[in-house]
Amino acid sequence: MKLTAQDIRAMKARGEKIAALTAYDFPLTRLLDEAGIPLILVGDSVGMVVLGYADTTSVTMADMEHHVRAASRAKPRAVLAADLPYASYTTPEQAVTNARRLVAAGAEAVKAEGGRAILPQVRAIVAAGIPFLGHLGMLPQQVREEGGYRIKGKTEAEHTALLADAHALTEAGAFAVVLELVTPVVAREITQQIAIPTIGIGSGPDCDGQILVTQDLLGFLPWVTLKHVRVRLNAGEQIREAARAWRKGLGHH
Ligand code: KIV
Repeated sequence: MKLTAQDIRAMKARGEKIAALTAYDFPLTRLLDEAGIPLILVGDSVGMVVLGYADTTSVTMADMEHHVRAASRAKPRAVLAADLPYASYTTPEQAVTNARRLVAAGAEAVKAEGGRAILPQVRAIVAAGIPFLGHLGMLPQQVREEGGYRIKGKTEAEHTALLADAHALTEAGAFAVVLELVTPVVAREITQQIAIPTIGIGSGPDCDGQILVTQDLLGFLPWVTLKHVRVRLNAGEQIREAARAWRKGLGHH
């Protein structure tokens, strides 16, 4: 049976771990769906792992729509969520317009980065009937302002802010929240305190679920190593080897 955002939310009460992965195209969405992944995200990480940008701030709505359309053609049983890209949700009106564009492209939920800072936008998206996935902790769309990717929750101020943001997103109607690079202790505390599932990435083992960029999990980018990922397949090396073996097999004229 087709899954909904409410089904993802309900997994927390049942103590069922939520396994979420990213996909940006038809075959990968289909394969992850066949593997039983209940939440698939067309993330703006597409900008870094597929489009070759240095960070996610160059990703546009047109990029996201293109990839959401491709992924949604797999008609997954999984909930297909999509990222609102950089600067696409600066006001509630703009957030709803762009969330609707992603839904028209085939998304069933949208994600945006931030807590209390974007609460009017979150409320407007939820009021428009579009399921909303939160994203707290390290916010990749702010990498330029912050000057890098840094773990969040180490100071008392960050700890307090993260808790307040998580409660605010819950009250605004988010169905789950991604916690990216949050200290495991703070991620656990948030997980215990809020009613909606936390989905961690580099935030320790005690979240209600985990999300990874599939290209990281499968080793598509062998030139990148990430502390929080145990690589399950050396796809990059295997592709290189298969192409080399094919080239050699062509022989000489
Ligand atoms: O863009 C993305 O893929 C994400 C996940 C890593 C959570 O935001």
